[in-house]
Order: sequence, then C-alpha cells, then structure tokens
Amino acid sequence: MVSGGGTNLQAIIDAIADGRIKGAKIVRVISNKSDAYALKRAESAGIEGVVVSRKDHPDASHFNKALLEALDGCKPDLVVLAGFLVVLSRDIIERYRGRIINIHPSLIPSFCGEGFYGLKVHEEALKRGVKVTGATVHFVDEGCDTGPIILQKAVPVEEGDTPEILQRRVMEQAEWKILPEAIDMIANSKELFRN
Ligand code: GAR
Repeated sequence: MVSGGGTNLQAIIDAIADGRIKGAKIVRVISNKSDAYALKRAESAGIEGVVVSRKDHPDASHFNKALLEALDGCKPDLVVLAGFLVVLSRDIIERYRGRIINIHPSLIPSFCGEGFYGLKVHEEALKRGVKVTGATVHFVDEGCDTGPIILQKAVPVEEGDTPEILQRRVMEQAEWKILPEAIDMIANSKELFRN
C-alpha cells in the first residue's frame, strides 16, 4: 500500500528481482492517491495498481470498506505499508492481524505516532538535535506506530542536514534495506525478533 513516490515499493521490486527477497511476489499495489508515482513504478514492473481514494469515497466508512475490498480482492499473505500515509481502520487490522507491516522513518519510539509522517519526522528530528536517527519496520496494530518492532537501522545526522537531505540518507541507508529484509524474513520464516 502506497501514497507517494514509491521508493520503498521500488526497493521491494528490486529486491525480489535480484533475489534478496525469496519466495514472495507483489500481487497488487494499492494507492490512496491516483497521481502517486508509485503507481507508475508498479505499472513498469507489471504489477496491478488499484486506486482507492478519499476523493472517490468522501465518506470515511465507504473509503475503509473499499480499502478492505481492494485488499481482500488479491488475497495477500502479507500487507506492506510502503509509505502509506493513511491510518488503517480497525476492520482491516483485525482481518490481517499480525500480517501487516509498516516502514517508519525514525527509530521508534522517537518521532512517531499521530502527525509524524514523511518529511515532518525529519524536521522534528533536526529540531530536537538528535545525532542519530534511522528507520523502523514494525507490525501494525490498533495504535499509531505502536506494534512490535521487527527491524531497525540507525543513521547518523550530519552537520548542515536539511529535512530533505536527512530523509534521503535515512531512505538510502536504512529504509530501502530493512523493508526488503523484513519481507524476506517473514516470507521465509526467519527469526522475526532480534534483540
Ligand atoms: C518513507 O520515508 C516512509 O518511511 C514514510 O513515507 C515515505 C514514503 O516514501 N512513511 C511514513 O512516514 C509512515 N508514517 P516513498 O513513497 O518514496 O516510499
């Protein structure tokens, strides 16, 4: 599930193509934005793209029902939130409990929860003056960024970083690595929790 540029989706597509993710395929890409570049990436990779937008479903309950139908329609074993900037409904979480993972661009529990998404996360990290940030892959539960952590990777903050520069570094050094890695772990039943 995607909302924007889809660089994390691309990382998954590439990892499947070069064998870093084994025994898995992407059956459908669901976007809540009809103009998300992620949909173009899906199309280029020959993956079905489906749009479920608030524009087409102004009523929240209809939107959530349509999202659930889009998921059920492709019978996924695993639901990956790869830059999906919508909070999932209780119905979806219940139906796919333990089978939904999310990538978040910080070291949870820092800079997460309601309102912390995309560039905002990096703006807040810079404001607070942390020297290390990173990314987290976690299971999704009813809370916002509260589910069990699967993988994390730290990334240094450097002098002169802007939110955009830091976002790019976190993506390159952490997100695009740990999201495919977590999918491979789950697909191949490797140990999920490393302490
Ligand atoms: C990524 O940085 C992802 O971690 C973040 O949105 C960006 C999407 O980029 N997700 C969140 O903030 C979730 N709370 P992408 O579309 O290029 O993958």
